[in-house]
Amino acid sequence: MNDSDPRRLSVSLVDVSEGREAEFQTLATAFEAAVIAKNFGRAEVIRDESFPNRFYAVRHWANADSAALCHADPEIQAITSKIYQIARVTHVVNGARKMDPQRLLLDDRRASIEADRRTGFDRRRKDVGSPTGTERRKSDRRLGPRRLRGRPGDVDLVGAARRAREYADAAYSQFMVGAALECADGTVVTGCNIENATYGLTVCAERVAMFKALSEGHRAFTRIAIVADTEAPTPPCGACRQILWEFGGNLEIQLANLTEQKGTHRLSDLLPLPFDARLL
Ligand code: THU
Repeated sequence: MNDSDPRRLSVSLVDVSEGREAEFQTLATAFEAAVIAKNFGRAEVIRDESFPNRFYAVRHWANADSAALCHADPEIQAITSKIYQIARVTHVVNGARKMDPQRLLLDDRRASIEADRRTGFDRRRKDVGSPTGTERRKSDRRLGPRRLRGRPGDVDLVGAARRAREYADAAYSQFMVGAALECADGTVVTGCNIENATYGLTVCAERVAMFKALSEGHRAFTRIAIVADTEAPTPPCGACRQILWEFGGNLEIQLANLTEQKGTHRLSDLLPLPFDARLL
């Protein structure tokens, strides 16, 4: 595509509710037909073979204006609103970059930011240490890889969460937790729980990982691993479930302790009736 090429591309991740795939395919076909009939361009849906019920909705717009016209089209809107009722849609690429703020859902806001805008500075080189000295940190492992890149699904997410856990600042509960969040581009962003003297301002490992990732421009996520040193698995707390759902969608959640995997869940099973931007 050269600079003068008016065509634009949009891509969304579509996580379809269990048992609604056929309904989604019918709606996607209707959407594709309408996009062609109205000369907006063309659309296609590609199944992600490694995630059940995950699809990529790819739209090839004739130009940036066709994207805007398509979004404003009542017939198209009728189809997409039905899709939103049976699927969680996360916009990943918005090549058209034209949006009607009235129609923005939380997801749409994410779309205007590219998947990975991390700048090249090396944040690992300089470790100034904890202001209270080294008491709380048993060993300095900051040289280990904190962000791994691979194909989504390839990386040892649990291993990354175990390593992240070593940085937990759990001086009050002594309950150290590590999390590793995999972004759609394969980047792994880790987190650990950080406690403080007020107790209530504690932030869990999962939210630390998610906020770190968001603050670095990531907007699409695939999995999160959560590790604690307990026999029973440590699932995310209610606050984390909400944040993971709103920003990560129906993530795969891997629970583990220091030596064993303790099961895999989907976030929709842990948060079956979520409150989110669709209800506002
Ligand atoms: N915690 C997490 O970091 N993640 C969880 O999934 C459960 C709880 C932290 C919060 C607090 O620092 C400590 O574990 C005890 O609740």
